[in-house]
Order: sequence, then structure tokens, then C-alpha cells
Amino acid sequence: MLKIAIDGPAGSGKSTISKIIATKLGIEYIDTGAMYRAITLKAIQLGIDIDDESQYHFLESTSLDICNGRFIMDGVDVSDEIRSVEVTNAVSTPSKMAKVREYLVEYQQKISNSKNCIMDGRDIGTTVLPDANVKIYLTASSDARARRRYDELKAKGEECDLQKIKEDIEQRDYQDMHRDISPLKQADDAVLVDSSDMGIDEVVEAIKTVINKAK
Ligand code: DC
Repeated sequence: MLKIAIDGPAGSGKSTISKIIATKLGIEYIDTGAMYRAITLKAIQLGIDIDDESQYHFLESTSLDICNGRFIMDGVDVSDEIRSVEVTNAVSTPSKMAKVREYLVEYQQKISNSKNCIMDGRDIGTTVLPDANVKIYLTASSDARARRRYDELKAKGEECDLQKIKEDIEQRDYQDMHRDISPLKQADDAVLVDSSDMGIDEVVEAIKTVINKAK
């Protein structure tokens, strides 16, 4: 099986780039952030105390699926809902829990053993796919990441504040990098790509070069 791992902080362009590479190579794109977001959404919908790990027993009865690029939880398309500000601001809490991580990592490993894939997240190269054929750590300055997010929201006609976006990104970076279990960090054997001053095409080219070298 071909396994490509892409890790990096929020807004570094992992999902955009991974989707393009998946299409070019004809392999599956697996967005693991969407899984943590879906579990967060379900915790909010159930009204549990999201800080209380013992209340996450709903995991065993939760089904997750990816169908034509849409994210399905318990038979319902939640692709849009999992991107809400409420879920985004809460997702770091379930993401630091052992119970949630064990459940999702096992699921992610199972998928990677059934099809060729490019998987993006925070702990793919370090924990989920330590044996990946290619590992990339895709990053960018928080200024560049905030600016991209700001431009995206503006293009959708949404009101937003660049400084606030940057603060939220830096806060999520801090939480993702300082949790006890599988914190975000570059795997020793990952190739660093800093996209601060690169366009999408340049990043895709840089990553394709890394993949071709590994073949
Ligand atoms: O990639 P994203 O922004 O959609 O991810 C949302 C959150 O999920 C992120 O802030 C941390 C968590 N996450 C994680 O802990 N491990 C992963 N492999 C992927 C995401």
C-alpha cells in the first residue's frame, strides 16, 4: 500500500494540497481533522460535558464514512457543520483525550491498510503511519495562514478580523503542540515544506518532487 503522511498546523494548506495530490495520483484522500471535528460535533449535539473523558462512550456507536469527498457521520452528511466556528473552537478538547485518539487512530490505520492514500493531520507521520512511504511536514507562518483564512472568508462575503483570526490560529497551534498525547511535531524522517511564500502550484510541485524521490 502507498501511504503518504502530511502533518502541519491549522491553515497550512494540508487539505487543499492533499486533495490535489490524491487526484493526480488516483489515491484516496483521508482528512483526519474532519474525524476529530465530527466527534466534537457529536459531543456538542449530545450535550455532554466535553471536558469529561468518561462521557465519550458514544464513540463505539458512532459511524464515520467518506463518500465522494463528503464526510458522513451516523448516515448524515456533516461536511459543512464540522467547519462551524463552534466546532473549530472546541475541537482541541476532544483531540487531547486518550479515548478519542485511540479510537480514531485505530480507524485511520484500518483505512490506510485497505487502500492507497494520502492522509493529513497532526500525528500521521509520528503515530498513525510511522511506516509511511513519504512524510511531509507542511507549515507556514501564522501571518501567512491567517491572511489565507481571512481572504477565504472575505471571498465568501463573511465579516472577519485578521488579528482575531491570527490569535485563534496561534491558540490552536499552542494547544495542538502542547498536549500530552501525540502533540503536533515534525517526525524525524519528515521533509519540511514551508509554504509561507509559495502559491498552491509551487507547493504541489515541491511535494510531488519529494514523492517521486521516494519511489
Ligand atoms: O486539520 P483540522 O484543522 O481540520 O483539525 C482540527 C483539529 O483536530 C486540530 O486542531 C487538532 C485535531 N487533530 C488532531 O489532533 N490530530 C489529527 N491527526 C488531526 C486533527
